[in-house]
This record gives sequence, structure tokens and C-alpha cells, in this order.
Amino acid sequence: MISKPKNLKDSSLKVYIKTFGCQMNKLDTELSIGSLTKKGYSFAEDENDADVILLNTCSVRDKAEHKVYSQLGSLRSQKEKNPELILGVLGCMAQNEGDKIFKRMPHVNLVCGTRMFSRLPELLDEISGSNKHVLAIDEDGEVNFDRMVTQRQNRYNAFVSIMRGCDNYCSYCIVPYVRGREFSRTVTDIVDEVKKLADDGCKEITLLGQNVNSYGKGLDGKVTLATLLRELDPIDGIERIHFITSHPKDMTREILEAVGELPGVCEYLHMPAQSGSDRILEKMKRQYTSAHYRELVEMARSIVPGIKIASDFIVGFPGETEEDFQDTVDLLRDVRCQSSFIFKYSPRTGTAAMELVDDVIEETKKNRNHILLELQKKISTEENMKMHGKSVEILVEGESKSDAGRLVGRTRQNHIVVFSPPLEVNQAGVSSALSGTLINVEIADSTDLTLFGVIK
Ligand code: 5AD
Ligand code: SF4
Repeated sequence: MISKPKNLKDSSLKVYIKTFGCQMNKLDTELSIGSLTKKGYSFAEDENDADVILLNTCSVRDKAEHKVYSQLGSLRSQKEKNPELILGVLGCMAQNEGDKIFKRMPHVNLVCGTRMFSRLPELLDEISGSNKHVLAIDEDGEVNFDRMVTQRQNRYNAFVSIMRGCDNYCSYCIVPYVRGREFSRTVTDIVDEVKKLADDGCKEITLLGQNVNSYGKGLDGKVTLATLLRELDPIDGIERIHFITSHPKDMTREILEAVGELPGVCEYLHMPAQSGSDRILEKMKRQYTSAHYRELVEMARSIVPGIKIASDFIVGFPGETEEDFQDTVDLLRDVRCQSSFIFKYSPRTGTAAMELVDDVIEETKKNRNHILLELQKKISTEENMKMHGKSVEILVEGESKSDAGRLVGRTRQNHIVVFSPPLEVNQAGVSSALSGTLINVEIADSTDLTLFGVIK
């Protein structure tokens, strides 16, 4: 939920935006809020109070699109009660489905693709009072990165887009089709944005891109992710820098050395392996082998002591045999990721893998998904236990949602840490007093997903 930003002049139309999918989508929602705010739109806390409901969507798996269609289905009755209500679908699924959305859901007014966000205010103006269908999915549309730094959910951390799109065309993936060709922002633009964020109290930034390791392609001079990190690290006020996502084929010693040397850059890599079988990696068009992935992890650990690796895996890719799957299990068991996102293969229309027969039956996909999840859980539990008794620096995020009266923060390696506020801090103001501060806690207990700490 996006709450109402401060300092708005109230316009007649109140907007509610619901975000699905990845961090890139969360940032696109922020950028949209920025462009709507500038044009005087205001924001509803609750969708029932909204004049405009926008769903910012994901297409990466079939299930994600189903979810949005089912939400749109349940919004039909709201639209019948209030015919003035404007309903819009934004982002990847809008780009992917286009006017098919109007055919299936005629009560939707707006279908706005991934490169059209900055035109949202005028598109909504066009629909307002007319109840018509507007389709805006121009592939040559330009992304406007001109964000209002104040439009953030949290004062002390922010996502910063350093590149858009993807040129990799992994055979299963729809992203290059819905987000377009890879494009890197200039160092100057990024540095300016991060300085503005720092001036606004931001302490932690996460650089975003589909493949941040190939950042700089197409820019003048020798610009790489490593050189960008070296420009960002000295900015006053920025204490922590993360970057996601890293493609193994573009990981370099130069990047890892920057991570190791720069005090602000955190010891964490999200580097999806996808599979441990070379046969499957080749069919996925990933352009590396399982041995290369292992070497990269080893190199990362030797250059950056204590670095944690997170991965994504797809199980049940076409033609995946028991032996291929066992290679994936072996890879995860050997490299011991801190966490993994594990997905069942979902065929996407238009991708190269659609040519292959989706021959792994659902039950097998489910089984393999379960086996890998259990293995990851075991590794995470064991790794977290190794943290007991250690003192770690955390950036406090606020009150724990699941644990009333306790606070939550993250380590530089992205562990979630729940801890009790110090006794001398007044209970009522404790969250606001500590949120956004860096403190040290000693880890006393843990599960697979959470560390529990005490302030020493
Ligand atoms: N089916 C299942 N998982 C997919 N991913 C991308 N495309 C698919 C697909 N068709 C996963 C990959 C990627 C993550 C964002 O989503 O693991 O890293
Ligand atoms: Fe998709 Fe591959 Fe690009 Fe990642 S690198 S967005 S998996 S095509």
C-alpha cells in the first residue's frame, strides 16, 4: 500500500496504486506517484476511497498474471456501483497483454505499458469523465527517471534504478519483451539522484537493474558497475549500498574488488544460478556453466570475507531429468546460499523456451520445488546458528510486524534481525527514535529466516 505523500495540494481525483512483483515495480510505483503528485493528483489510503485504482503488474510467471485478472474481476462490482471509477493496469502485464485486457475485462479503462509511466497524468485526464478505453503501450516510449526524492515509503532507504531492460533473452524469460532493450543511465544522473536522496536523509540505497553487472554498456568511456560504486561510495550520508540483480556471466573480479574495498558497499550478492545442470543452463541460454558459478562464489568469498550469496532457481524446465535436478541440489548444497527464491517453470508465450515441450509434470515440479526449499531452509538454519554470540551492525527499520513490541532491522548481508528495544528508551517513541539508525546487537537465537538479537 502506498500511503498519501506529504505536502499535496488536493486534486479532485484520488489515486490508489497496488504494486505486484519485483523491486523494479515498487520503484516504478514511486516514479508514478511523483509524476501524478506534480500534476496535483492526491492519494487514497484505501482503495474504497479512491477515484482511480491502478494495478502495477508482473508477467514473469503465469500465476502473477492470474492474480491480477482475478483482482480485476473482483473490482467489477465496485465499478458497477461507481461508474466514474477509473481502473488501470500498469507495467509488465499491460505491455504483455495489451488490448486483450480490455477484451477480458471491459470495465478496465487504462492499459499503460512499462515505458509510459511518465504520461500517466495526461492519460488519466483523458479518461476522466469519459469512461473510455485508453491503450498506451508504445515500445519507443521514454522512461523519465526524474523522481521526487521525497516520495518514498521510508526516509532512510531507497531504490535507485541504474539501468532498464535486458538484452540477455534467457530462453524462459519474458522480461526482455516487456521491459525492452537494455539501457544504462549516466553516472552523473545517478550520482545527482543519490546526493539528493542523501540530503533528504537517506542512508541506504539499493541499485536496481535486471542485470546490474553489465551496467555501463552503451555509455561513453570505461564505465562499469565497479566504477559507479566507486563514485557513489564517498557520498556523504550514504552508509550502505546494495545492488541487485547480478548475472553470473557478467560478474567480474573488478566488481568483487570494489565490493571488498569500499566501506559502504555491502557484502551481499543476489546472483541467480537458475540450475546446476550444464545441459539445462545451455537450454536456458544462461551462458555459464555450473563450474563457473562455483568459481565465482569462491572468488567472491576470497575477495570479500563474510559475503552472502542469494540465488534464484527454476525447477521443472523442459527436459529436466532427475539427474539434472540432482545437479541443482548438489550446487545449492555445495555453495550454501544464504537464501534462494525457488520457482516452478512457467511457460511464457513469445519466449524461446515455448518451442520446447513443457514435459515435466506438475507433481514432479512441486516435488522438486519442495526438495530445494527444504534444503535451502536447512542451510539457512545452520548458517544462522553460526551467527549466535556475534555482534552485528543493523540498520533499524521499525516495529516488527509479527512480533509486537519488538523492533526489526537488517544486517549488511541482508539478514533480518528482530530485537527488543533498550529498556531506557521510552516504549511509545521507541520505533521513531531508533528507525533509520545503525546500532549493534548481539545475536542470541535464530530460525531459518530471522535472527534474534539483544542490544549490548
Ligand atoms: N518460470 C519460472 N520462473 C521464472 N523466472 C523468470 N522467468 C520464469 C519462468 N518463465 C524466475 C527466474 C528469475 C526470477 C525473477 O524469476 O528465477 O531470476
Ligand atoms: Fe530475464 Fe535473463 Fe534478463 Fe534476468 S537476465 S531479466 S532472467 S532475460
